[in-house]
Amino acid sequence: MEQISVIIDCDTGIDDMVSFAVTLSSKKLNILGITTVAGNQKIDITTYNTLNGLALMGREDIPLARGEEKPLYRPLRDAGYIHGNGGLGEYYFKNPTSKQPDKLDAVHFIYETLMKSEEKVVILALAPLTNIAKLLMQYPEVKERIEKIIFMGGSIRSGNPTPVSTFNVLVDPEAARLVMKSGISFHMCPMDTTKDAYLTDEDIEHIGKINNPVAQMNYQLCKFYNDTVNKNNNAHNRFKGLCIHDLCTAVYLTNPELFTTVKYYGDVETKGELTTGFTMLDYEDILRKSDEEKNVTYINSVNRDGILKIYFETLKSFE
Ligand code: RIB
Ligand code: CA
Repeated sequence: MEQISVIIDCDTGIDDMVSFAVTLSSKKLNILGITTVAGNQKIDITTYNTLNGLALMGREDIPLARGEEKPLYRPLRDAGYIHGNGGLGEYYFKNPTSKQPDKLDAVHFIYETLMKSEEKVVILALAPLTNIAKLLMQYPEVKERIEKIIFMGGSIRSGNPTPVSTFNVLVDPEAARLVMKSGISFHMCPMDTTKDAYLTDEDIEHIGKINNPVAQMNYQLCKFYNDTVNKNNNAHNRFKGLCIHDLCTAVYLTNPELFTTVKYYGDVETKGELTTGFTMLDYEDILRKSDEEKNVTYINSVNRDGILKIYFETLKSFE
């Protein structure tokens, strides 16, 4: 099978960690590296969590590079109120790995990896786009080597944590704008769609019955996430269950047949009084942009049953 070469950029983070169950064990992917960034938590924490996730899932062979500790031009606003002080709720690694990040930082690691790769590489971006924006600012020539960027974030309708902005864009809107308008094929898995890939309370209990360390970690993570999202995000009004945003986005890479897409012209609000981080998507074609100018492949539907089947089967495979 021809594998997809990919670099994963993340801010681990509960749903980042949940998504690793699928990506790290997928035979369809050739994961060239994982890079971390500040987002859900500070960079030391997202890096520690990712290193230990790789160890727990038996993938310490994948290099990890530590990325940016703050957004391009703003202070970090983290999501500790959702993901907890350690970024993984009340889950703590019993025997932390001694493995350290690569000697290169994320920007230089991605640059070197792209330049060495014989195939074009997909970037799966599950976090604020700071690392990727810095890469493109410093090394614009790498654009030719990137097949596409698949990004979790943005929306037409659903905001979180503000009514109109999603976390991964709000944290670093200038980075999101730069990447979205870079000319690289940009696939957006928006909150409008990830909210349809939800777990019910019964689904979470089902995970709890799978008896291996990875599934048990996923169970604890989802339980905690469900509680904090319900407490802090008024989720009962808006969501049908627990939305695992990064898992949904990762499955778009491994199983695109479970999704549909449409092309829009898009941009990001960076200076709004009320709307900073809003992703403006011209879904009614008001601006009459040409097909070439439509820079966003917007993922507009997801097969929830298909995602859950893959997720549950993968968790069982760790037995
Ligand atoms: O809004 C959800 C997204 O923000 C997810 O990627 C989550 O991990 C956080 O980064
Ligand atoms: Ca994330």
